[in-house]
Amino acid sequence: LKHLLTIEGLPAAILTQILDKAEDYVSVSDQEIKKLPVLTGKSVFNLFFENSTRTRTTFEIAAKRLSADVINLNIGASSTSKGETLLDTIHNLEAMHADMFVVRHAESGAPFLIAKHCKPSVSVVNAGDGRHAHPTQALLDMYTIRHYKKEFQNLRVAVVGDILHSRVARSQIHALTTLGVPEVRVIGPKTLLPKDIEKMGVQVYHDMRAGLKDVDVVIMLRLQNERMNGALLPSAQEYFKYYGLTLDKLARAKPDAIVMHPGPMNRGVEIDSAVADGAQSVILPQVTFGIAVRMAVMSILAGNK
Ligand code: CP
Repeated sequence: LKHLLTIEGLPAAILTQILDKAEDYVSVSDQEIKKLPVLTGKSVFNLFFENSTRTRTTFEIAAKRLSADVINLNIGASSTSKGETLLDTIHNLEAMHADMFVVRHAESGAPFLIAKHCKPSVSVVNAGDGRHAHPTQALLDMYTIRHYKKEFQNLRVAVVGDILHSRVARSQIHALTTLGVPEVRVIGPKTLLPKDIEKMGVQVYHDMRAGLKDVDVVIMLRLQNERMNGALLPSAQEYFKYYGLTLDKLARAKPDAIVMHPGPMNRGVEIDSAVADGAQSVILPQVTFGIAVRMAVMSILAGNK
């Protein structure tokens, strides 16, 4: 694997290799070994053209745990604001001996463009592009599901909310179906589901209570207002009434169902605090697993099988 740009098209064996490697790294951190010499002498550039709390920070922690030098480009203070093109910025960073770019961009496809034009020695990781893909989020979500449910083969998983604008949902659905989850449900209003969503091998529900019946995993999504381009939005109260996860709606799922959310959460819009902070929530463990999963991805891209 040279770059990690999308989950789509990756075989189950590669996804499993990343999850297994992440498990090794979780056990390493249990032993309180702070740093591994996997990326010694390598420079990892975090290029976040869109805001981030979890992804940017966990990539930085992960790269540092692997002994890389980490450079967080301050996009606001960079020369992109003076009209420099994305590719000119990349070539200048390559001239500083970059080995890996971790890229988040509002435009779908930006990390692909960088991967196409960067030096053969450089790896690119997509940290979220537009509404297209967020592969490391999907991988950490798969890691979380495997951690709590042990295997993928007998699960019912529901992804709930704004699927249409969600790069996370797209990557999750590819990962879930590739890893053999037999029943992936998407739940949301017609206006927030892609028209051809069934082609992705999912079952569609518009009624949340019906869609949650007997599921093992509930993945909630935020309304991606920033990608709606002025479309008529439902009010927060209206959305919460039909698609907000409350304890009452969660009771439709299996009693041991886990609740996930990639963050950032909007409490009282897609999820009630009683659920977000409740016994079935694994939302914060997801964030922690993100460190080991991102260590695994960077390590494998650097050639450490
Ligand atoms: N899940 C996720 O991508 O969170 P951030 O936007 O904080 O990175």
